[in-house]
Amino acid sequence: MNNTVKILGCGLAKAQQKITNYDLEKRVETSHEWIVQRTGITSRYVTIDENTSDLALRAAVQAIENAKIEKTDIQAIIVATMTPDCLTPSTACIVQAKLGLNDLPVFAFDINAACSGFLYAFQLASDLLNRYKNILIIGSETLSKMINWNDRGTCVLFGDGAGAMILTAGTRNLYHYANSEGDLLGVLKAEGLNLIKDLQNLAPVEQFLTMQGNDVFRFAVRVLKESIENVLNQAHLTIEDIDLIIPHQANYRIINHVAKRMKVDLSKFYMNLQEFGNTSAASIPIAYAQAFEQGLIDEQKRIILVGFGSGLTYGATLIDKRGGEDCVK
Ligand code: UT7
Repeated sequence: MNNTVKILGCGLAKAQQKITNYDLEKRVETSHEWIVQRTGITSRYVTIDENTSDLALRAAVQAIENAKIEKTDIQAIIVATMTPDCLTPSTACIVQAKLGLNDLPVFAFDINAACSGFLYAFQLASDLLNRYKNILIIGSETLSKMINWNDRGTCVLFGDGAGAMILTAGTRNLYHYANSEGDLLGVLKAEGLNLIKDLQNLAPVEQFLTMQGNDVFRFAVRVLKESIENVLNQAHLTIEDIDLIIPHQANYRIINHVAKRMKVDLSKFYMNLQEFGNTSAASIPIAYAQAFEQGLIDEQKRIILVGFGSGLTYGATLIDKRGGEDCVK
């Protein structure tokens, strides 16, 4: 698929409460040392009373300010989330209302591709830019509501948060890569609603996230490398041409393995998982916005966004800012 994009602005929202590894030591049989050694995570942010749309709104407002546009200039909103406020209406419609855009025609909907959701939203949005001038894309999660806080295998990994971008059409070609492998459905999942039987109301099922961590780890290393190589091939570039890689912030060791296999310096990979943990669909846009705040994303940068998640899903986007436009390949 061949189209163009320019990132006009970006923003992020931290959830209200910082939870350290030491806090979790008081809940489950774990230790700060184990969590740091196995994942690189030292803290994560967890919401107190904000839902997914509230975090999304905060990130969106920052992205709109950063883009120097009026909120009324937004014509489409896509929210990537697996933890929406409710089954319906979509979080995107709630964000539209909270932005005060009810009176305007906005094309608003959610997508769920788990931790790859933001990459899927990015690809979708760039395909829609011939119809909508400014598109707000958001990754927002309140994973804390689907985590079993007594399961040490998962509760130490995840956090809440949101990241947002405003996209408009640019002048260069762009290519994305995104896929899923449905045969790995069971290794990372959370149950939803039960089917009804004989028109009987059934109690809600357990909604906690369950995971076979080792399987996800191996999958992640394989598909992160595959996705990076795919967008590099499309762009006729090599890894040496890339200034910064912003991976899904799941685990320091996963990223380290990918760097080693690709024979690329680990410093090329941006990481903020130490502070945020894994915020699923929010992790890449939060990392992008933080890298932007730190001045790491300037006019000369070529950047790859790359991720994986439940589905299992995965993908990458190459953003080429050389030449003055954000060029996504
Ligand atoms: O967005 C995608 C989300 N998912 C992921 O990215 C997950 C990918 N997988 C991983 O990050 C890693 O597999 C984990 C961090 C989840 C686990 O690390 P690991 O090095 O693969 O550990 P393990 O599952 O092989 O477990 C090793 C040991 C086990 O004990 P035994 O059986 O050896 O006695 C676990 O019970 O570590 C134990 N363990 C813990 N110990 C202390 C598991 N979780 C913890 C914990 N604290 N929190």
